[in-house]
Amino acid sequence: MANTATIEIDGKRFEFPLVKGSENEVAIDISKLRSSTNGIITIDPGFKNTGSCESAITFLDGEKGILRYRGYSIETLAEKVDFLEVAYLLIFGELPTKSQNDKFHADIIAESHVDEDIKKILDAFPKTAHPMGIMSSLTSALTAFNATSVNVDSEEDMYKSVVKLLGKLPVLLAWTLRKKQGLPLDYGDNSLGYVENLLKMMFSKPNSEYVQDQVLVDALDKLLILHADHEQNCSTSTVRIVGSSHAGLFASISAGISALWGPLHGGANQAVLEMLEDIQADGGDTKKYMAKAKDKNDPFRLMGFGHRVYKNFDPRAKIIKKAADQVLHDLGVNDPILEIAKALEKEALEDPYFVDRKLYPNVDFYSGIIYRAMGIPTDMFTVMFAVGRLPGWIAQWREMRLRKEPIGRPRQVYTGETERNYVPVEER
Ligand code: ACO
Repeated sequence: MANTATIEIDGKRFEFPLVKGSENEVAIDISKLRSSTNGIITIDPGFKNTGSCESAITFLDGEKGILRYRGYSIETLAEKVDFLEVAYLLIFGELPTKSQNDKFHADIIAESHVDEDIKKILDAFPKTAHPMGIMSSLTSALTAFNATSVNVDSEEDMYKSVVKLLGKLPVLLAWTLRKKQGLPLDYGDNSLGYVENLLKMMFSKPNSEYVQDQVLVDALDKLLILHADHEQNCSTSTVRIVGSSHAGLFASISAGISALWGPLHGGANQAVLEMLEDIQADGGDTKKYMAKAKDKNDPFRLMGFGHRVYKNFDPRAKIIKKAADQVLHDLGVNDPILEIAKALEKEALEDPYFVDRKLYPNVDFYSGIIYRAMGIPTDMFTVMFAVGRLPGWIAQWREMRLRKEPIGRPRQVYTGETERNYVPVEER
């Protein structure tokens, strides 16, 4: 393949270098386009064709259904390692040795508490507040109690911030849940594993000892791993772009949580369950909703189906579907909502509308089902996703800063009024 691409405008030819990735992905480097063409830019709403950076963290191939963190397949990682090892891998580039892993876990656990004053902020939220709004606010509030900026060139500084975030975010998640459920806050137990501690902080009751259920521990660990990174998605791009202004790590993560909230992104897992509940309340007629999803005059979309990048299958969905079946079986869950989910899945996989458009169930279709079986309220689903995605956000933020990327500042094609004369109010 040639090393350059040529663009011809008004008979003038401009050459631009091609950039090749380690998996043979090719991009046209247009960073000099504007200066060499006297102001011409590209336009690409939704950035469907735009690489915003070079990155060595996550590789995915949407056509082939491949997802790898630092070169390791998601299937291998989900089977062989735990969430904290994946977090270490994503952030620092290599799987940890045994001693690195033990230290990482101990350092995170040592940070698994938040300033008591955070409680006052939590108390100020009404019980009706959406947990994602609470999480985003509390993550931002952490800056008041921790360093507002981190020196990315200092490994020690960066490490300290990483363990703080990984330690404190689960506490915020658990406290957000407990606040909504009117339960006293739980301070966790430093002798437990990361996921075990998170489950205890979420579900312990004030008057009984919390008993761990290995089925839940394994399922949650897997879910967190599957969500840990997904290259330049909406929330990760947000984290990178906020951080590119040299805003602090905690502030950037808080912005990422807000981006994740939307129903077209992380909020899809909540939207899936709400859709299933609506279908059930409406008599459980899945065919009616299939027809609505296909009707171009109806804004209804089948939530949990389709993906911007995966156009054959979502490799995470394959793993999580198996885990969902296991959890439902082991916990003996018999839930009519799940029957509706199964019927929709079957009908969509056989329907030419969905098959032709390559719309397959995505990871959120099944993650919502597992969260529901675990007893997690629907509006907490996206918060679970946020804690899973945390290592990816941190890794991407760190990479962006270490590569000394410039501030993110896209251009636009202006389509508004050209210069107009002012008209005084009495003459308008
Ligand atoms: N139900 C019905 N039709 C759909 C759906 C759906 N879930 N998704 C896409 N389509 C249709 C579109 O109407 C369009 O049809 P057309 O070509 O006849 O106009 C075609 O499929 C392509 O859709 P786009 O919106 O162009 O696809 P895009 O890649 O931009 O969107 C997205 C991907 C946003 C995920 C979309 O499929 C969707 O809205 N899905 C439901 C929400 C969801 O599950 N989001 C979670 C994503 S995974 C994650 O964030 C972890």
